[in-house]
Amino acid sequence: MIPVITIDGPSGSGKGTIASLLAERLGWHFLDSGALYRVLGLAAVRQGVGLDRAASLAELARALAVEFVDDRVLLAGEDVSLVIRSEQAAAAASQVAALPTVREALLGWQRRFSRPPGLVADGRDMGTVVFPDAALKVFLTASAEERARRRYKQLKEKGLDVNFDNLLAEIEERDERDRSRAVAPLRAADGALEMDTTTLSIAEVLGRVEAAVCKALARAVV
Ligand code: C5P
Repeated sequence: MIPVITIDGPSGSGKGTIASLLAERLGWHFLDSGALYRVLGLAAVRQGVGLDRAASLAELARALAVEFVDDRVLLAGEDVSLVIRSEQAAAAASQVAALPTVREALLGWQRRFSRPPGLVADGRDMGTVVFPDAALKVFLTASAEERARRRYKQLKEKGLDVNFDNLLAEIEERDERDRSRAVAPLRAADGALEMDTTTLSIAEVLGRVEAAVCKALARAVV
């Protein structure tokens, strides 16, 4: 059994930061599943495939030439790490992610990330659908304003041009789509450790998650 820890939540809840720090601390593999949907959205826009064309998008997903190399995301060898971070790419990702055929096509791809010594996976449905047997499931939330503030800071730091009010509106629209979709909607898995990070620092969240990881791993070896 390869141990898996899932960290789900809406955009800006801190899941990506916490998941990558945790993976680094544990020396485990890391899956940023959102990047996969973002790359697919980008590939679809570039190839002129409509974002509601379920069959064509599933075909594109199965043949997606995406690679994760260190901190970089490559699409057919091109570094797309920065382009996929824009809110436009996120909106395209959320549209293709609502299609069951697309999710199905990306399922095996995501599960293959589960390799020794362990995996930390972040997304929307890591605990509910992709890794239902995870040793520990975490669900992070934060107020929409705080999440928009974090995303604003992150995007500015990457040199992207952003407007706070537009970002807040886009985040709320995307969350609503992710929560209300019929397949793999954004929700906490049964038994997940739920944490509101609105007023917590990264170190505080990481500390609480690490404590839960220790307990979960101890349970797994008993
Ligand atoms: O996590 P991130 O903001 O990069 O995800 C972008 C979009 O991809 C989300 O808004 C969501 O629609 C979709 N997604 C998903 N399932 C995942 C990860 C991301 O539907 N496991």
